[in-house]
Amino acid sequence: MNAICPKATKVSFHDYQPELDNFRQTVLNGLAHEHKQIPPKFFYDERGSQLFEAILEQPEYYVPHVEKQLYRDYAADMAALIGKDTVLIEPGSGSCEKVQLLLDALRPAAYVPMDISGDFLRQSAATLGAAFPWLHVHAACLDFTRELHLPQNVPAGRRVVFIPGSSLGNFDLPEAQHFLFNIAQLVGKGGGLLIGVDRKKDKAVLETAYNDAAGVTAAFNLNLLVRINNELEGTFDLEQFAHYACYNATMGRIEMHLTSLQDQSVQVAGRTFHFAQGERIHTENSYKYHPEEFITLATAAGFKCEQHWTDAANLFGIYYCTV
Ligand code: AVI
Repeated sequence: MNAICPKATKVSFHDYQPELDNFRQTVLNGLAHEHKQIPPKFFYDERGSQLFEAILEQPEYYVPHVEKQLYRDYAADMAALIGKDTVLIEPGSGSCEKVQLLLDALRPAAYVPMDISGDFLRQSAATLGAAFPWLHVHAACLDFTRELHLPQNVPAGRRVVFIPGSSLGNFDLPEAQHFLFNIAQLVGKGGGLLIGVDRKKDKAVLETAYNDAAGVTAAFNLNLLVRINNELEGTFDLEQFAHYACYNATMGRIEMHLTSLQDQSVQVAGRTFHFAQGERIHTENSYKYHPEEFITLATAAGFKCEQHWTDAANLFGIYYCTV
């Protein structure tokens, strides 16, 4: 443990040295697959993280705009249900932006941001500690998809996990179930979960959100090929691949792909991969949930849904559940 900001002595950093997935092996396996695929966690190199921050600013990508407004509108209601002096835990905390909309109302005893990116986490925790000098921040650098545990100096108290941004949507259903189950174990009986989940809706609204006019989501998707070129001696010609995002109504998910615009061969780490014209690399799923679907999932993981907030257009849902 080490203090990271001289002014904000209430901030500590705990490095659990998360094992980084092997980018090379995952890409080689994914491109050798009958249906070419690369998991979305590899979007987030430095440039990818910047592009994701830019996606959050796009007017078509309604998710952060609607969700933040819900926190602004209902922070007091949420705090009344959740109660004060909790240990508030945020897996995948990133810039710790959304939690700031709740902190004054919630007044938690401690806040535990968790992120796989150590530098980003240190920076975000320090910034948060400076903005909320009364807040005890115990930052934990770990891969929350693999391990969910709290630093030892976190005080005792009722635990509440906060998952904004519909990150649950990027898990396939069995993974989402497993993740919710792990959260229920972490918070224990009486513990809580405040989670933002994107809703099923009109296909056109969804597809517009993942095909913004400025082309930022396209650049984010294509950046995966830039990363392969840079890190794995790839020879992807970016002019010969295109971003493709569509809503798969049967699966209830937005799918993102990179489509080959011609028959071509590409080298990656000394191996050759052939692409037919129109063949795709599947890069991301983003599942959308009707309220009753999410509640069924959460119930199976051991939660009871206490309250649900949504916007006037029913675009997005925030749920408070307890074990
Ligand atoms: C991080 N995640 C919740 C985003 C989503 O909507 O699935 C990632 C994203 N991909 C394209 N736009 C946003």
